[in-house]
Amino acid sequence: MTASWSIIFIATLGILWSYGSHSEWFAGRSAADIRCNDDHGYQIEFLSQEPLLIHIQNFLSTNEATYFTSILAENYTHRLYVNDDDVKKAVAPRLAVLDQEDVFVKCVLNRAQRFLGSMGSPDFELLSLARYGVPHQVQIHSDASHEPFVDSKSQRQYNRRTSFFVYVHASDDLEGGETFFPRLPPPPDVGLPANPAVVSINNSSGAPALGVKPISRSAVFWLSVNPDGTLDYNTIHEGLPVKKGEKIGMNIWAKHYID
Ligand SMILES: *[C@@H]1O[C@H](CO)[C@@H](O)[C@H](O)[C@H]1NC(C)=O
Ligand SMILES: *[C@@H]1O[C@H](CO)[C@@H](O)[C@H](O)[C@H]1NC(C)=O
Ligand SMILES: *[C@@H]1O[C@H](CO)[C@@H](O)[C@H](O)[C@H]1NC(C)=O
Repeated sequence: MTASWSIIFIATLGILWSYGSHSEWFAGRSAADIRCNDDHGYQIEFLSQEPLLIHIQNFLSTNEATYFTSILAENYTHRLYVNDDDVKKAVAPRLAVLDQEDVFVKCVLNRAQRFLGSMGSPDFELLSLARYGVPHQVQIHSDASHEPFVDSKSQRQYNRRTSFFVYVHASDDLEGGETFFPRLPPPPDVGLPANPAVVSINNSSGAPALGVKPISRSAVFWLSVNPDGTLDYNTIHEGLPVKKGEKIGMNIWAKHYID
């Protein structure tokens, strides 16, 4: 086995990872106009216990999803980065960094924070949207890194212990674009109408593995780091190429400080 993928982690090309450097993108709407609907209700289903992987239906409210989906194409000024190859071949999805003071951004981060509970961390990486059209994909990677990340403000070291990948929007004609975990077997209830998001896809060794289909407003949550701080290779994953249509995704990464 080569270790090449093991050092790969996902990043955002060309972003200053600090707050306060973004203009007021969303002027004209006051926080009082829009309330967080914390009680909109989401449903969870465990897809794997060890490592922990949870599917969350209706993670976003319809208002949140509508709002995030309305962000203009011209605001997707960055690229989601796994390696230079993806960028050269123009298969890396486009990224729009959101205004971190936006009321919807705060709603979503609050929800993630409460979901994390005792696993929580007070700080999150900048929230952004990734837009995947044809032929965008993200090659196999871990969200966490062997070398800790460094918070640009506090200089504290952290890793991405937990990940939420939120399917903000999946177009009706979307084909492909599944989040694929080649090392995880699909759960026994795969293929049942009760959870159309869970699919079985053969991995490159020919064994069935877990795929999660993008369904608007749902999310998948998993752990990327073992309790001892090492990377958990079982949750390496890839964003399979979009063959038709479009999906908009959102990564939520809490900063789990190491010190
Ligand atoms: C998009 O970016 C432009 C600057 O290029 C900014 O003026 C505009 O407010 C942004 N709009 C949204 C909806 O993000
Ligand atoms: C494919 O799945 C099997 C069974 O889960 C696993 O042992 C194997 O490592 C996987 N292959 C790849 C390339 O991830
Ligand atoms: C997946 O692999 C199984 C054997 O593990 C095989 O029976 C099946 O045909 C394969 N499916 C595809 C789509 O290749």
